[in-house]
Amino acid sequence: MMRRVYFDNNATTPVRPEVFEAMRPYFSEHFGNASSIHHHGQETRAAVGRARESVAALLGCRSSEIVFTSGGTEGDNLAILGFAKPGDHVITSTIEHHAVLNSCKHLQSIGCEVTYVPVDGCGLVDPGDVRRALRPNTKLISIMMANNETGVLQPVEAIGGIAAEADVYFHTDAVQAAGKVLIDVTRIGCDLLSISGHKMHAPQGVGALYVRKGTVLQPMLYGGSHERSRRAGTENVPGIVGLGKAAEIAKAPLDRGELSRMSEMRDRIEQKILADVEASGVNGAGAPRVPNTTNIYFDGIEGEALVIALDLKGLAVSTGAACSSGAIEPSHVLTAMGLPPKRARASIRFSLGKQNTAEEVDFAVNLVPQTVARLRELSPVYRRVQT
Ligand SMILES: Cc1ncc(COP(=O)(O)O)c(C=O)c1O
Repeated sequence: MMRRVYFDNNATTPVRPEVFEAMRPYFSEHFGNASSIHHHGQETRAAVGRARESVAALLGCRSSEIVFTSGGTEGDNLAILGFAKPGDHVITSTIEHHAVLNSCKHLQSIGCEVTYVPVDGCGLVDPGDVRRALRPNTKLISIMMANNETGVLQPVEAIGGIAAEADVYFHTDAVQAAGKVLIDVTRIGCDLLSISGHKMHAPQGVGALYVRKGTVLQPMLYGGSHERSRRAGTENVPGIVGLGKAAEIAKAPLDRGELSRMSEMRDRIEQKILADVEASGVNGAGAPRVPNTTNIYFDGIEGEALVIALDLKGLAVSTGAACSSGAIEPSHVLTAMGLPPKRARASIRFSLGKQNTAEEVDFAVNLVPQTVARLRELSPVYRRVQT
């Protein structure tokens, strides 16, 4: 059997064994509908309540401020579409996930105005640009906490301050930050913050949106009065229990400041690959980043070809956003950072998870330089550039 190493944890993570064990009884043993008033319902309602407390503890908010969703996309949509009406103005950035960008596009189609603030060469939004984009009719600012392709952490606290001063709602997509860096909604000063279970070792199809007390959102789903009428639909109890457990597991090392194992592995990938491969570099290197992500360009190759060649040897990495894989378009994030399209297409992302080991890093840092060299040998363009 071929050895398989998975370094695509920003696309999705494996469910942790402890998370799986916590979920297991809620499929058949404790199967009640959390809205039922009998024993079975009370049992699952209590489990949902405990998970809500764990997620609230991870984000530094009250449990009543947590709305469970089906994932990051739903949280982003609910936050963005839940406020703006035709004629309102919204500020976002050019490097957001498509869950935010396409929600904003939809707002434009119904008569809202949207400003897309740029990023610098490191992939950072300038809070000054956000301030300058404010208008009298600005309703909402939506700027992500950590970028999914580069891992670059945005200055969300400064942006939160600007939003508060201007009395504008502030949403941050923290899908790629949750479990990787400390999150405190009060320090950030946000009104809304979305997270997704499957990016933090809980299952796919569950997430949460923090909604600051007193913030009234227009729901997207109409039905029962679940989630205090903010999100109708019978709760995904096993998923919610899994998210709660994953939040607990993520919180302890964050509280203890133990982020070093992950960043050491990430740094070793960067140092070794940059030392062994000429004409390579880290996109977003100059900015603060989450500890698990690195995005590296290898001039003269096609990122897609490298991803496929590495996969054939057992290493799973990605060209960036999973949903854009297969598309010929270069990454909107990397081009927004000013990379020429060729270099953007020559970039790949390595993203680590809690299950990864130093030995797997060794495997990757040996494999990548040889694979890049082989692809470059086959590339007449690269040879021409070098000679
Ligand atoms: C930054 C960011 N936001 C939102 C999402 C969407 O989350 P989900 O897959 O849970 O819908 C993703 C997933 O890739 C993401 O990386």
